[in-house]
Parts: sequence; structure tokens; C-alpha cells
Amino acid sequence: MQTDVIRPADFAAEAAQFILRHARAAIAERGLFRLALSGGNTPRAVHAQLAVLGADLPWNRVQITFGDERCVPPDHADSNYRMARETLFDAVAIPAGNVFRIRGEIAPAAAAHEYEDKLAAVAARCGEPRYVHDLVLLGLGEDGHTASLFPGSPALDEAARNVIPATGPKPPPQRITMTFPLLNAARHVAFLVTGAGKHALVEEIAAGGTEYPAGRVRAAAVTWIVG
Ligand code: 6PG
Repeated sequence: MQTDVIRPADFAAEAAQFILRHARAAIAERGLFRLALSGGNTPRAVHAQLAVLGADLPWNRVQITFGDERCVPPDHADSNYRMARETLFDAVAIPAGNVFRIRGEIAPAAAAHEYEDKLAAVAARCGEPRYVHDLVLLGLGEDGHTASLFPGSPALDEAARNVIPATGPKPPPQRITMTFPLLNAARHVAFLVTGAGKHALVEEIAAGGTEYPAGRVRAAAVTWIVG
């Protein structure tokens, strides 16, 4: 696993440029860029930059998934989909069918299975045993969680499924999350992390520490973009 840590002067712009480089390479090589978005607040500024710097990206060749979602309706203030719609989808010409929304408004088990089926259909078309993201964006909590994979959660031990219900201490507690098998199948993972309070945690995890959930992300390549 290749691990890099970059500390750009302009976090949001550099993160957006990083994503766009991966997008253009994937589209050139395979005709499609499969990108998983992260939740929380950090991605907001990155999405805004992405919409500006990537205005000329062929968004019809971008397929969006979500690393996790809160079990709330899509118009709820806590919805990761709503955050992404407001900060990115409403600003770029991405076809609605290219955005794979996790239905947080239905029963968690049903939402997880429904999402797995959606990803499995694409994987089958691509001849993949498991959906392969070109790039997965992830955040980091101060407890070392990522997506909705929280310390001590049984979700950390899921070794077969790709998307499962999970709970955690960060409200709202009921969530749907991608699992380590799916995250680790990605070609590249980029952690987008802001806040001085997380810098020491980043150093420990990027150095190979596996004590925290984020340390169990072991994709082929991992880049930490730290602001
Ligand atoms: C979520 C996120 C979660 C988030 C981290 C960091 O749905 O809450 O997926 O993993 O990325 O908690 O959140 P901030 O970017 O808001 O610090």
C-alpha cells in the first residue's frame, strides 16, 4: 500500500485538483470515473472548488456513490446526500442517474441491501467481483472513525458484505456505511482532513497505526490531504 501525506496551502483547491486529476485519468483510461463521496462538513469547501475547477469535466462520465449516509430523508439537514446536492450536484451537469443515493429514509437493512445490489450490478457489467471505485473520499473523526465505521463497532469486522447498517456515537446514530472490503477494493483512497486537533491522529494512522478504524483502510494507494 502506497501512502502519501500532503499539506497544501489551499486545502479545498488542492483537494479538488487531486480529484480532477483522478477523474480525467479514469475517464481517459476506462471512459468512467467512479467516485465515492465522504460525508460530514469537510467536503463542503472541496465540492465548491470541484464545481468551479471542474466545470469542464464530462460529468456524464462520472458515477457518484456515498461512503456512508445517515438514516434520514434526503432533504434532512443531516443528509450527506443533501450536503453533496447543495454543494456539488446542483452546480454541475451530472445526470441524476449517475448519482447513486443511499435511501436513508427506508429501513436500514433494506437500504443497505438495495445499495449493495446497485453496486453489484455495475460490478457485474465491469467483470469485477466487487465494485471498484477509482477514488474513495473519506473523512476522519477525532476518535479515528471513517465513513460510519466507529471504534468498537461490529461493522469493523464485516469481511464479506459491501454495505451494511451501522450505529455510532456521532449523531445521528443510525447509519448505512461501506465496509472495509469495499473501501479497500478501491484503486485509490483520499482522506480529506481538516482541523489541528486531527493532525497527530493523521500522523499516527498514516505511519501504519491500525488501532483506529481509519487505520484499517488498506487500499492500493492512500493519500492524506490535510488542512
Ligand atoms: C459522516 C462522515 C464521517 C465524517 C467524519 C469527519 O457521515 O459523518 O462520513 O465519517 O467524514 O466524521 O467529519 P467532518 O468532516 O465534519 O469533521
